[in-house]
Amino acid sequence: MLINNWYVAARSSEVSNKPFGSRMLGLDFVLFRDADGKAHCLSDVCCHRGGALQHGQINNDHVACPYHGWEFNTGGACTKIPAMGDGVSIPKRARIDSYPVEERLGFIWVFLGDADEKDRPEIPMWFEPFLNAPDTWRVISYDYLYSDVNWVRLGENSTDTAHPSFVHKAFGNRMSPKANIVPIQETAYGARTVRERAAPPLAQKTGAIAKILPTDRKTTRVTLEFSMVGITEMLYQEMTTEITQVLFSTRTPIDEYNTKSYGFQARNFLMEPEHDPERLKGLLQAAREDHDIVRFVKPKLTPKSTTEEFLIESDGMELTYRRKAQEYARKFGAIDRDAVARQTPNQIMVIPSPLRKADPKGWVHKTVPLEGAASSEVMAAE
Ligand code: FES
Ligand SMILES: [Fe+2]
Repeated sequence: MLINNWYVAARSSEVSNKPFGSRMLGLDFVLFRDADGKAHCLSDVCCHRGGALQHGQINNDHVACPYHGWEFNTGGACTKIPAMGDGVSIPKRARIDSYPVEERLGFIWVFLGDADEKDRPEIPMWFEPFLNAPDTWRVISYDYLYSDVNWVRLGENSTDTAHPSFVHKAFGNRMSPKANIVPIQETAYGARTVRERAAPPLAQKTGAIAKILPTDRKTTRVTLEFSMVGITEMLYQEMTTEITQVLFSTRTPIDEYNTKSYGFQARNFLMEPEHDPERLKGLLQAAREDHDIVRFVKPKLTPKSTTEEFLIESDGMELTYRRKAQEYARKFGAIDRDAVARQTPNQIMVIPSPLRKADPKGWVHKTVPLEGAASSEVMAAE
């Protein structure tokens, strides 16, 4: 799992002046808003004796641990230890990691890593124009939990151009399964491709959309783009020159084996709100169809070598996805899952935060082991 990346930790509407728990990259975090409404994210584990801060409360913009009432400010510094009484100076080591937060597209994005602000990649804002044009685009939002699915395996599925013919009833066409080989255009952290897919027979379509699609439709033009930043994807489906649907998704690894997806679908047809339930039903059905395939794929994690699978030319986008994930890991860092698996479950670990980078000494919890990092580089507790 990648560090130094932005992840959707929650919907904006879920985070208030009460603590909210979010699990990402196999670790727990607490989110809350201060009196000005700004959202904050801290490690969830109290440095005293491990209380879960998400079960505590917010006192004057500080999160108070439910166990013995230690309070932490938005930067993660402990400001109050009730058992020591008033007027004592709090040791610097009584602190926890605090992470940068951005609120965009109605989501709380947390930067899980210690990179300086100037080095943090930009969150892809591809979907913003669709949210800002209500006369042209009708937007619905969704979330979906892909239990038992690793985030790279899910990304391989979403970028896979050959599977719809077999997996998706509403838009796949089994009679024309040949995948056109099209150029893949790489971007800084991802890639983009455009192709024509055989449209399914109209009889396969149900509901209101079946009534507006032309009977002689031959293809759907699909533009697919992904970025490792925020693990984001955008899919433009041009069913005709006038009928277009756009899907934007973000993927947050809850841990190596479970992935939460948040996103939107925009459409420029059937704009009336009464069509929303049918569109959402179709979207979630497609997610379930993918889920029912990918959770049974073996091995659960993408093999390290391509020789462990029989890959063909039409798997190009999936291979690009894997390579872009590896490039991001080399540039920004990734959790060493084998080293984590060797740790005792009793070992508390945290993602390194920007303050830890600036001031590395004097922390209670250790940071997660990172790929390629010499063990001495994994900051030890002291
Ligand atoms: S465990 Fe948090 S205050 Fe004691
Ligand atoms: Fe799919």
